Amino acid sequence: MTGVSTRLATYLDQRRRLGEPGIVPAGLEAGEILRLVRARATSGPSKPAGIVSVGARGAGVVSDDYEALRAAAMACTRCRLADGRKTVVFADGNPAARLMVVGEAPGAREDATGLPFVGQAGRLLDLMLASVALSRRDSVYICNVLKCRPPGNRNPQPDEIESCAPLLKRQIELVAPEVLLAVGSFAAQWLTTSRGALGKLRGKVYSYQGVPLVVTYHPAALLRNPGWSRLAWDDLQLLRQVMDGR
Ligand code: URA
Repeated sequence: MTGVSTRLATYLDQRRRLGEPGIVPAGLEAGEILRLVRARATSGPSKPAGIVSVGARGAGVVSDDYEALRAAAMACTRCRLADGRKTVVFADGNPAARLMVVGEAPGAREDATGLPFVGQAGRLLDLMLASVALSRRDSVYICNVLKCRPPGNRNPQPDEIESCAPLLKRQIELVAPEVLLAVGSFAAQWLTTSRGALGKLRGKVYSYQGVPLVVTYHPAALLRNPGWSRLAWDDLQLLRQVMDGR
């Protein structure tokens, strides 16, 4: 076991003793945790067949490569958000990156530029990633649960998430990240299929279809609640340890 793996095992053990049980049983080494995450994924619910239908409402669009998926997203009219958007915000960063970050939905600046996380929250996200030696340009791929801006930056509605989900599902399959980071409760709930508040979901390593998943606060929430920064820092350390342990 490497030094980093030892630290991950110790860290998870400490969290368990503090009464925050993760999805992994106590006493496992980091390598065993990752093996368990992968094994659970193969015995979990089966993946959808390789081709997911996306695109115009009701019509099937086969997206069997990244560019086809992107094109389908850019032309998507599956939900009401298509009516008010300026652009579809598909992704930013490096599609070959090891880490995929999933946020909530574009805001006004993202809608205007077509890029995720370019406003104030985006600047904080960049700093959070930089604190664990990750950069948007090289080592991260960033997207959102919703690809279009909800009017007035309201919360995504369940039917909008349902309409957009096939895009995200396929995006994850095609990008095939080694590790996922969900920022905010909408991404965390969708990826973990849990309903809990972010504060209850964080501090654990999940598995999304065999991909280790860490969840943390949305940077916009951290701007409103700076007292949560310490917890977000813990989450980023956990992310770093998961990435270093692979
Ligand atoms: N918040 C998000 O969740 N995503 C963005 O792209 C911008 C702000």
